[in-house]
Amino acid sequence: MKDNVILIGFMGCGKTSVGIRLSYSLKRTIIDTDKWIEKKQNMTVSEIFAKEGEQAFRQMETDCIKELINTADGQIISTGGGLPIREENHGLLKELGRVYYLKVTPEAVYERLKDDTTRPLLQGADPKAQIEELLLKRAPLYEKCADVIIEVSGKSFDEIIAEIMKEESKER
Ligand code: S3P
Repeated sequence: MKDNVILIGFMGCGKTSVGIRLSYSLKRTIIDTDKWIEKKQNMTVSEIFAKEGEQAFRQMETDCIKELINTADGQIISTGGGLPIREENHGLLKELGRVYYLKVTPEAVYERLKDDTTRPLLQGADPKAQIEELLLKRAPLYEKCADVIIEVSGKSFDEIIAEIMKEESKER
């Protein structure tokens, strides 16, 4: 198993913000799978969904994790919220490192993302219902995939980072 810290969780749970802060605390560099894919494809995630469809994007996510298993070590990896949908990715994520699930409430996600235009899956007429439905469906997958579950709703970044740092210190 590689020595990476992996952040999984629903859109808007704070994976990117937590990942950046964590990279200072742990002195590790950060890789974001969405950004990694966007760079490789030279398209935004929204463009990939529009031009190639969601399934093509899901395959790009699996390919990304496979490549990171060969190239990433001692890093922080922030993942797209849908990456754990594919059960095949669970074993790959475990190979890649320790998986932290940032667990968030649908209300908190809605508050953060109600005006967002970059998440293609939340651009329908009723984003609130979409968030609730998707989160309900995905929660068991996130939990199955996780080594550690961190409840993030109502907590400050400092509190979240402290919890992750505490878990990481057990690994040393
Ligand atoms: C998705 C989450 C997004 C991005 C894409 C699909 C999802 O990443 O990968 O829009 O299916 O939950 P974030 O979790 O970083 O928003």
